[in-house]
Amino acid sequence: MKITVSSPDITRVHTHCLVIPIYENDRWSASARKVEAATQGLISTLVKAGDIDGRPGTVLMTPAPSGVNAQRLLLVGVGEHPDADDFARAAAVTAQRLCAIPATNAVVTLAEISAKGIDPSTRARVLAQALHNATYRFNQLKTGAGKEVTKRGGALTRVTLVPGSSNTASVTRAGVKEATAIANGMKLTQDLGNLPGNLCTPSYLATQARKLSRSHGLGVKILDEAKMKSLKMGALLSVSRGSREPARFIIMEHRGGKSNEAPVVLVGKGITFDAGGISLKPASAMDEMKYDMCGGASVFGALAAAAELQLKLNVVGIVPSSENLPDGAASKPGDIVTSMSGKTIEILNTDAEGRLILCDALTYAERYKPAAIIDIATLTGACVVALGHPATALFSPDDALAEELLTCGNSARDRAWRMPLWEDYQKQLNSRFADMANIGGRTAGAVTAACFLSRFATKMTWAHLDIAGTAWHSGARKGSTGRPVPLLTRFLINRAKAG
Ligand code: BES
Ligand code: MN
Ligand code: ZN
Repeated sequence: MKITVSSPDITRVHTHCLVIPIYENDRWSASARKVEAATQGLISTLVKAGDIDGRPGTVLMTPAPSGVNAQRLLLVGVGEHPDADDFARAAAVTAQRLCAIPATNAVVTLAEISAKGIDPSTRARVLAQALHNATYRFNQLKTGAGKEVTKRGGALTRVTLVPGSSNTASVTRAGVKEATAIANGMKLTQDLGNLPGNLCTPSYLATQARKLSRSHGLGVKILDEAKMKSLKMGALLSVSRGSREPARFIIMEHRGGKSNEAPVVLVGKGITFDAGGISLKPASAMDEMKYDMCGGASVFGALAAAAELQLKLNVVGIVPSSENLPDGAASKPGDIVTSMSGKTIEILNTDAEGRLILCDALTYAERYKPAAIIDIATLTGACVVALGHPATALFSPDDALAEELLTCGNSARDRAWRMPLWEDYQKQLNSRFADMANIGGRTAGAVTAACFLSRFATKMTWAHLDIAGTAWHSGARKGSTGRPVPLLTRFLINRAKAG
């Protein structure tokens, strides 16, 4: 979908749908006033009849009113004094309605209203992102009727955003540009996540990294199992033992900063299917463990966005990738392996595999001397119990980095919530026979998983994002969300501006 910014005469413009903000309690937006005049009082008639009252998130679609050239009018309630949440709600319903009708183009004037707490560029970003996200479909594996989108909507290809005034046109354009890069990154992340485990294997991810390097000018390096062995990545390789698909260690680089500048390193868990290994998972909803590479996929998405925006920043993306399956060769509970760091790990549960691949990736990343390193992983079911689906769990021993990430999450509307990493929890990882166990018992599972990782990040400024609750939707809306690409991209944009 192409989003452009311009200011046509909205009563004259030919479009499949003209979207107008409606305030509550007799406040009038500039566009509503124009349409009211051109249609001899259509809007006040609808308000009097009770068909629309401007409450935030309410909508009314009317067909081709005479007096304007639009085929349809979509009236969107924004409340009396909209705040950022009201605005986001109005943007979301607008996008959903536009995608539910057979319109291929639309003119949207919502950016003209002022909303408390968000500037014009953010308004444009919120709107553009809502539009891009609503058009996302994953139907490449359906044939025939399932592919048809036009009659059932989802056909939107061209949207014109009308800025509030000529002064805000350029910041509106900047917001649209950012939103488009973020949405493109999210789409890449979502596609990789939604692809099933038989197609999206570690080798497939490696191929996609090579493709991304060609399309976006990224540096790319893929390590095979022989190379991982020579690097002594014993923890990562122990996870891959039960699989017939070879593991891959994927490294991508966006070199937008000065060559001597320390990079931001993103490390994403890339388990393309997690059956649990010998500690086999129960059958119900096990299909959703194809999403266990969503952390890795978000690293792809964030690097793609950084490259699209040509951020003046060095960014390294690392995705250790493997399957976790039961097999005669698979690791067994009680096995002790030696990680790349030299520390030994007693594998008490083969289903706690994410931390095993990530610990070797963290050790590998030390060579970059990162300015900051952030790992992203669908790491624990316990994280979903603790925070549910609204928030990503954030862990970091570094208060400044934690604050920075929380702020980015808030402004990207992709929120995280900080969790403790206190020393008190570390003892749960004690092992009778090795340096540590790979599980920490029944309580505080998300915290002990983070504690495990912290032991491999002591030499770096590090944060860990557990996205087990935020990376995908279950149930009727099953599908990848593209989170936390908005948070990560915001972080990279801000770091690039600061540098
Ligand atoms: N990928 C899972 C975590 C997960 C489970 C995310 C369900 C989202 C939904 C991870 O590899 C895992 O299996 N973790 C175990 C750890 C336990 C054995 C300590 C878990 O959470 O049950
Ligand atoms: Mn697991
Ligand atoms: Zn897993």
